[in-house]
Amino acid sequence: MLVDFRPHTRLRGKTPVDLTSAVTPVVAALSEGTADLARVRVVCDWVQYRENFRDVVDVRPILPPPEQGAEGERTATPRRVRNDDVEIAVDVRRSAGVALKELTAARLCEDGEDRVYLEGWGAGSASCIWEFNALYWSALELWEKVTGQTYDQARPGGEIDAPNKDAARELIHELFAVWDGLARSGTLPEQLYVVELGAGNGGQAKVFLDEFRKLDRAHGREYYRRLHYVMCGYSQHVLDLASETIAGHSAHVSSFAMDATHPVRLLGFLRYKVFLIRVSNVYGNLPTDEVAQLGGRTYQVQTRAYLPASGAAELAEHVSAGVDQLPTLVHQLLRLGPTLLADAAPAHFANVDATVEFWCRIWSLVRLAERYVPVISLDVYELAPSVSGGMLRPLLESGADVRMHVNNGALASFTDSLMLLHPFGKLVCHDLFVTDVQAYRTEFRGPGKYDGSVVNWVNGPLLAHVGRRKGFEVRYVPFAHRAGGDIITMTAQVTD
Ligand SMILES: C[S@@+](CC[C@H](N)C(=O)[O-])C[C@H]1O[C@@H](n2cnc3c(N)ncnc32)[C@H](O)[C@@H]1O
Repeated sequence: MLVDFRPHTRLRGKTPVDLTSAVTPVVAALSEGTADLARVRVVCDWVQYRENFRDVVDVRPILPPPEQGAEGERTATPRRVRNDDVEIAVDVRRSAGVALKELTAARLCEDGEDRVYLEGWGAGSASCIWEFNALYWSALELWEKVTGQTYDQARPGGEIDAPNKDAARELIHELFAVWDGLARSGTLPEQLYVVELGAGNGGQAKVFLDEFRKLDRAHGREYYRRLHYVMCGYSQHVLDLASETIAGHSAHVSSFAMDATHPVRLLGFLRYKVFLIRVSNVYGNLPTDEVAQLGGRTYQVQTRAYLPASGAAELAEHVSAGVDQLPTLVHQLLRLGPTLLADAAPAHFANVDATVEFWCRIWSLVRLAERYVPVISLDVYELAPSVSGGMLRPLLESGADVRMHVNNGALASFTDSLMLLHPFGKLVCHDLFVTDVQAYRTEFRGPGKYDGSVVNWVNGPLLAHVGRRKGFEVRYVPFAHRAGGDIITMTAQVTD
């Protein structure tokens, strides 16, 4: 049996975690059960997100490799789940005061009857939790009205790091230096493009544009006259807010509603023309798979969204439905959105507020079941368009067992964005980045829920590896303009 206690730093300090009470009851439950103890992993995490997709104890089957096919080839479908290969996951943040032994024993016996599944098994990035995430941004106005809180307030600390004048000024000075150089050699284009992906409510765009105008006056080269700031966002509602925020600069700004994972689709006309691409707190909000290296073998973490039966029963009664009708109502909600669902299902919802309340309650209930499925060949796993799974190999094979995010959406956005950059341009991204693979062995990095959205940390070493292969230098430094906090600044620019 392997016991992996990841949050070891919590064993010290003012209120240290008691390792014995977090682990012994779990081992006791296993000892009294029938599982082959030689093939059990017990992993303890500190799941820091108050709202998340896990229970205090989860059981994750580890599937064996596929059997040889009739012609000696491997079949793609893994064999039936065998309960002797299993991971027991404990959230030690919530395990104190819980009857862990009984809970573990009960979880080991469960056959899925106490769950209402919303989907089949699949890669994490294909889960319906990302449809919830997209719905949150596209129907944000309705969510905010019913919950009474804006997405800014939903963030930890109620603020976002990047709208910071000092950071903006630093970027602008760097741009001026590049442009002055190009102007001297007569190669400065007439239009000076800056793109922001996931512009939110326009707060950062405004700070940037205000500072730009001020600094340009002092600099005296009329760069503001030539500046074109392109704001991109997922949701028209949020983009409309952003347009109001930057109203004083509207002659220099255009906005595009588009998916940040494929910027070139809409912004192809800017290929090799953009001097600065800004992305802040977006990469961690894009769909991701997870992969793991366990005992020398590579696995994909497959997930399956479900509702715990007791909560589901209560909610079903509340909307005058049977429990078995809930998955259909959920998928209708995700497909139609709250406004049309109110029209489409009047027997269950009196008005739009009722559908939004249903949405909030479902979201709070949603959990993810997980299982490990062997990856037969990393090379045929496409992480993002034209990014081979082979890129993961050095990270997965970097030492002890590890589980990490692939951040497929962020990778797609990143590699696509690089194609927009002018040879002297750069991409600057503020987010929660893991900058060292080792951190995945000790810290839980998502997914968590922030209000109605999904958040994960971003696999910095993977983005850097992929960026370098494409000829870009990728660097990570802690966000320089506010002490403390976890925000990291990534920059990518063409290698000298
Ligand atoms: C956490 S907010 C950050 C907003 C802003 N960049 C900031 O730092 O204040 C995430 C933003 O990403 C946008 N977003 C999320 N998924 C997106 C996607 N697939 N395509 C484009 N934008 C997306 C949301 O609409 C939202 O504006």
